[in-house]
Amino acid sequence: MKIVMLGAPGAGKGTQAKMIAAKYEIPHISSGDIFRMNIKNGTELGKKAKEYMDQGLLVPDELTVDLVIDRLSQDDCKKGCILDGFPRTIPQAEALAAALEARGDRLDYAINVDVPDENIVARMSGRRTCTGCGATYHIIYNPSKTGDTCETCGETLILRDDDKPETVQKRLSVYHEQTQPLIDFYDGQKILKTVDGTQDMNDVFAAIVRILEA
Ligand code: AP5
Ligand code: MG
Ligand code: ZN
Repeated sequence: MKIVMLGAPGAGKGTQAKMIAAKYEIPHISSGDIFRMNIKNGTELGKKAKEYMDQGLLVPDELTVDLVIDRLSQDDCKKGCILDGFPRTIPQAEALAAALEARGDRLDYAINVDVPDENIVARMSGRRTCTGCGATYHIIYNPSKTGDTCETCGETLILRDDDKPETVQKRLSVYHEQTQPLIDFYDGQKILKTVDGTQDMNDVFAAIVRILEA
């Protein structure tokens, strides 16, 4: 099972992708998490990516496509995977399709987590991200049981650099311009499924499971 998660920044792609990955025992591949790990480790890629991410802009396709496609060719992806935050542009979607096709494979579903812009800024300002493992919490909707540390690894939780309200606005406009066209792209391929992302996160998850098990 190969699944792509679509949706605006803060729609809940990462939250749902982690739940799906755990239930179906497939790897969760988040391009944003890969970039953040590179930033944390001070790699050359991390330095380049940070310049774009801090402005709310997309990292150029040249730095993104090979990175994710290499990850996809690892053995643990044979039984499937869930892609979160990739593809984000039509050229990325085309590169992904070509790479899968070269292996006689294809995507099964593109799941669009639909949340209106009005709800997004509130979600992002309450999000807290673990500096150790990347786990995501929300101060109101999904608080950590251990306060300002991660329940899983004990590291500190922070507000992501790109979750400041000005940057969130920029990310939203970049989303509408560059990523939203993927909704029509996957609808044209008859693999698009849309879920209402404004529901409680467990209800969103239940809706996704119904789609995957239909
Ligand atoms: P990335 O890390 O992918 O960020 P994003 O798409 O902006 O998405 P987010 O991670 O902000 O949101 P999410 O949908 O995962 O929401 P979450 O589940 O955390 O990318 C970051 C940057 O990296 C990009 O801006 C770009 O620069 C670069 N990049 C990455 N991939 C790229 C690519 N392919 N090409 C080019 N550049 C790329 O939920 C948000 C909050 O809401 C959380 O606090 C959560 O607890 C809460 N929440 C979730 N669901 C619910 C619910 N149902 N009800 C209430 N609260 C909820
Ligand atoms: Mg995310
Ligand atoms: Zn952690």
